[in-house]
Amino acid sequence: MTESGSTKARIFSGVQPTGGLHLGNYLGAVRNFADLQDDYECVYCVVDLHAITTWQDPTRLADQTREITAAFLAAGIDPKNAIIFNQSQVRAHAELAWVFNCVARVGWLNRMTQFKDKAGKNREAASVGLYGYPVLQAADILVYLATHVPVGEDQKQHLELTRDIAGKFNNDFGVDFFPMIEPLILGAEARIMSLRDGAKKMSKSDPSDMSRINMTDDADAIANKIRRAKTDPAALPGVEVLGEDGTITEAFVEERPEATNLVAIYAALGREDLRSVLADVAGKSFSDFKAMLTERAVDQLAPIGAEMQRLLDDSAYVDGVLRDGAARARAIADPVVEQVYDIVGMLRA
Ligand code: TYM
Repeated sequence: MTESGSTKARIFSGVQPTGGLHLGNYLGAVRNFADLQDDYECVYCVVDLHAITTWQDPTRLADQTREITAAFLAAGIDPKNAIIFNQSQVRAHAELAWVFNCVARVGWLNRMTQFKDKAGKNREAASVGLYGYPVLQAADILVYLATHVPVGEDQKQHLELTRDIAGKFNNDFGVDFFPMIEPLILGAEARIMSLRDGAKKMSKSDPSDMSRINMTDDADAIANKIRRAKTDPAALPGVEVLGEDGTITEAFVEERPEATNLVAIYAALGREDLRSVLADVAGKSFSDFKAMLTERAVDQLAPIGAEMQRLLDDSAYVDGVLRDGAARARAIADPVVEQVYDIVGMLRA
C-alpha cells in the first residue's frame, strides 16, 4: 500500500510545455499515459521548471502549460483518477532536486547526451539549469516514490541516471528509501522520426514545421505534411523485413528509414501489429500508402485536436484541473521531502 492508500504501483511522467505537442509525444508517451491509468496510480506533470532551462517567453508559458494539460485531457486521461498538475505548483520538486544536486556527480552529468545535443557547440553559454536538468527529472519521479515511468526512447539515459541517484542516496545514508524505477518504453512508437529525415527524431525544436505533425494540426495540414513527407523510390515492403522478434530489422531501418517510420506510424495509430500492416501494404506505392496513412491520422488526431481546442476555450476549467492536481500532488510529495530532510539530518525545529 502506498502512503495515499492505493495498492497499485505508482507511475510518474512529465511533458515539457516548450511548445505544442507533436505526434511523437502523443504516440510515444501521452497515449500510453491514458492507457495505463486504470492499472496504476498515475501522476502526470507538465514540467514548467524544466521548460525554462531554455528560454521561454513569459507571456506564452502559461498558455503552453494549458495546451499540454488540454492534450492530456483530450487524450483521455481522467483528472478524477490520475493526478494532473504543473510542476512549479509543487515546491517539493525543486527542494528534492537540491538534495539530489548534492548526491549526483559532475561526471555522471557530463555523460548525458541530451545536454550535449541541446547545448550544441557553445556549451559554456548553456544555463546551469540545462546541465542539472536530469537531476530535477530524478526528483520529479522520486518525490512520489514512483516505480514506473512511461516515456519515449530518448529518455532512457535520464532514467538510468535516476536509478543511479536513488542508489547512491540509499547507499550514502544507509537507508532503503528510494525505489529502483522501471522505465516503460513501449513499442516502435517509442521513437517516432521526423517526416523530413528518417534518421532524426520528430521534435518540437526542429525548425521545420513540416518535420512533425502537431496535435493541433487540422485535416488539411496533416494531409499536406504526409503528402510531402520524404520517401524513397521503392514500393512498400512486406513481412520479409520483420526479424524473429517481430520488429523491423536494423538493416532495413538503416536502408529505408523513412519507409520504416511511416509504416510504424501507421501501425501505431491503428494499434495494429506490424505484421498485419506489412501484409496489407506490401508492394503498394507510396502515393497509395500515404492516402491510407492520411485517412488514419486524420481519423485519430482530428477529434483530439478539436477537444483540445474546446478545452483551451475554457481555461478556467483547465486551471482548476491543475490546481486540484497540485493539491493532491503536494499531499504525497511534501511528506517525502520531510522524510528526506530527516534522513539527511536537517534540523526541523
Ligand atoms: P519531452 O517534453 O521532450 O517529451 C515528452 C514525452 O514524449 C516523448 N517523445 C517521443 N516519443 C517518441 N518519439 C518521439 N519522436 C518523441 N519525442 C518525444 C519523450 O520521450 C517523453 O516521454 N525530460 C522529459 C520530461 C520529464 C520527465 C520527467 C519524463 C521531466 N521530468 C520525469 C518522465 C519522468 C522530456 O523532455 O520530455
